[in-house]
Amino acid sequence: MLEFTHTTKEHDEARQGEALLLEKEPAKSNGRKLYIESYGCQMNFSDSEIVASILLDNGFETTKNYNEADVVFINTCSIRENAEQRVRNRLKEFEFAKKNNPGMIVGVLGCMAERLKAKFLEEEKLVDVVVGPDAYRDLPNLIAQVDDGARSVNVLLSREETYADISPVRLNTNGITAFISIMRGCDNMCSFCVVPFTRGRERSRDPESIVKEAQDLFNEGYREVTLLGQNVDSYKYTAAVAEGEEPQKAVSFSDLLARVAEVNPLLRIRFSTSHPKDITDEVLYTMGKYANICKYIHLPVQSGSSRVLDLMNRTYDRDWYINRVDAINRIIPGCGISTDIITGFCTETEEEHQETLSMMDYVKYDYAFMFAYSERPGTLAAKRFEDDIPEDIKKRRLTEVVAKQRIHSLERLQNFVGKTQRILIEGFSKRSDKDYAGRNDQNAMAVFPVNAAYKVGDYVQVYIDSCTSATLIGRIVD
Ligand code: SAH
Ligand code: SF4
Ligand code: F3S
Repeated sequence: MLEFTHTTKEHDEARQGEALLLEKEPAKSNGRKLYIESYGCQMNFSDSEIVASILLDNGFETTKNYNEADVVFINTCSIRENAEQRVRNRLKEFEFAKKNNPGMIVGVLGCMAERLKAKFLEEEKLVDVVVGPDAYRDLPNLIAQVDDGARSVNVLLSREETYADISPVRLNTNGITAFISIMRGCDNMCSFCVVPFTRGRERSRDPESIVKEAQDLFNEGYREVTLLGQNVDSYKYTAAVAEGEEPQKAVSFSDLLARVAEVNPLLRIRFSTSHPKDITDEVLYTMGKYANICKYIHLPVQSGSSRVLDLMNRTYDRDWYINRVDAINRIIPGCGISTDIITGFCTETEEEHQETLSMMDYVKYDYAFMFAYSERPGTLAAKRFEDDIPEDIKKRRLTEVVAKQRIHSLERLQNFVGKTQRILIEGFSKRSDKDYAGRNDQNAMAVFPVNAAYKVGDYVQVYIDSCTSATLIGRIVD
């Protein structure tokens, strides 16, 4: 989870289905057009790039206008109730388009497809195809079934699928920053979370294919990659060996980070998400060793109360989390830290909510993604505990958390004012093409006047004159 935001509302809006901004053409066209829209986390956005790659290989072109599409896909998220509601609303709009274009195939992909399976076809009459996150290779076949007049479903989860051999088609790209999926699924059973049910068992992708993807991106002009997984610290790859051969040593996340960092010193490396129970000092030392691994860690705390963390089945407590934060500050001084927080989890008391606020004061997060607890069917919490905190109390606690984070985010940004920061120019500022925009190591966004001596993709030294609550404002210095 890497967008920059300070409130849940902005966060949700930032993630509202982004359509393809680029129109891509296949080597050999079948004359049909694909439109794809993604919701949820970066894993889903990354999966849409795999889906586009599979369909381009089958002759589809992509379009950014769903009214002219033959196939409309919506890659969905189930993490909170409102994420699903948004998808349902969007489907109503597609229903309208389908009236004018009766041949249009509508497919639901991703986590909501996996959660609801064939029920989707009963509930939403316009949906023709339902496909879970591990079944995208089957898409051409599923579309062919719809062409033959059937409605089709494939929601099989896999223990092996990592799509390692598929080169993602970069969508919505600025040509400078890209995501690389390094693992899939999740084996943690956080009691509030639907992900283990929608994405299946954890599996790590072959490091050779990850390094190659990073190298290819670098060769194409990309200058930053973000390694993605629900819990990157438990990345572990053991190569298969022929009978009689010595087994090779497993590749850890720290090993992988080092290998990707060695692709080129000009390639910046980020990663997300780190789990507090698994992040090791070894990873922190590797981050310290390589200048091109960004000094920024997304370390979701969820709650500051040990009792609530236990109910959440996070398998760490408050002291453990504080110990990890202290280790980060000791080994990588100045490292940025961000978090996810849930307010109003089952039985959370006012004192326990205060513990979350005091944890925020202790860490002073650079960013936070903050949510009111939303019960998800089938999760451990839904089975075991009553969702007993009234909505207005969840929301009030959320407001308090958001207000505190605003102050901390501003303080963190103010720390950069009067200093010179190394920034990767990612493009032009949203507001004006007279300004460049890019981030520093700690993921803070900066805008600064265009200087003809530097182009998008260059690193520049930027002196920070001032900041707003979300952006550093500066100028290039030599
Ligand atoms: N793998 C990541 C999180 C993925 S989900 C991790 O372990 O940190 C992103 C965030 O959504 C979670 O960190 C959590 O804060 C929030 N979230 C997940 N389930 C939720 C629920 N049922 N209600 C509210 N927020 C939830
Ligand atoms: Fe969900 Fe926990 Fe896995 Fe994150 S680590 S995806 S919160 S189960
Ligand atoms: Fe991601 Fe949402 Fe699925 S957060 S893993 S798309 S439930």
